[in-house]
Amino acid sequence: MKIEMPPSTMLNPVPVVMVSCAGKEPMKIGKRPNIITCAWAGTVNSEPPMVSVSIRKSRHSHDLICETQEFVINLVSEELAKACDYCGVRSGANEDKFDKLDLHAVPSPHLEFAPMIEEAPLSISCKLKDILELGSHDMFLAEVVGVSVDEKLLNNKGKICLEKAHLVTYCHGDYYSIGKVLGFFGYSVASKEALRRRMPPKKTKKSNKK
Ligand SMILES: Cc1cc2nc3c(=O)[nH]c(=O)nc-3n(C[C@H](O)[C@H](O)[C@H](O)COP(=O)(O)O)c2cc1C
Repeated sequence: MKIEMPPSTMLNPVPVVMVSCAGKEPMKIGKRPNIITCAWAGTVNSEPPMVSVSIRKSRHSHDLICETQEFVINLVSEELAKACDYCGVRSGANEDKFDKLDLHAVPSPHLEFAPMIEEAPLSISCKLKDILELGSHDMFLAEVVGVSVDEKLLNNKGKICLEKAHLVTYCHGDYYSIGKVLGFFGYSVASKEALRRRMPPKKTKKSNKK
């Protein structure tokens, strides 16, 4: 039996990302590079690749993104989890979060103003296409104009191995590290050969017998 609850944002888990942005004059205090943590983020189209992030008007980052029409979505590794939380509870209007957290803002090769976070495993450069005023949040719809990945995450064939990044997800107020692989796209209908090749080996219990 299910118990009925009032309508709420219960879609879980969701990605949690660090969105970096800056004003057009990044040397000015109110326009310096900034990071906002967002859980209301998602992929919304494949061709062209498009994403959305929903940000309240009251956030400092809201104004910066409106000013430059650019932002970068940085994926969060386990190592960045605490910094990610910090960027979600302190405003860049009052402090330099890059400096405070010893993170580095590096130029995106695809954008004019919004920097990437050097320490992030993967950074998605985005150009704003539209803003939907939904109520509490404004949804920024953007096109992905470039993806920059830590070279350590590429295998010798140039494939991105995101499992090496130990990414973080957000579920009902808590951060989790992604762990166990359960299958791959289409594994429910895959051939035995594909399953043998691509499924993680099943752990066998060590016998205590000597
Ligand atoms: C886990 C987490 C997720 C968050 N998700 C969002 C979000 O999707 N949209 C938003 O406007 N604020 C979100 N926030 C709050 C902002 O990150 C927070 O208000 C931040 O201090 C704003 O920074 P800024 O003023 O420098 O832009 C989130 C905070 C946390 C901790």
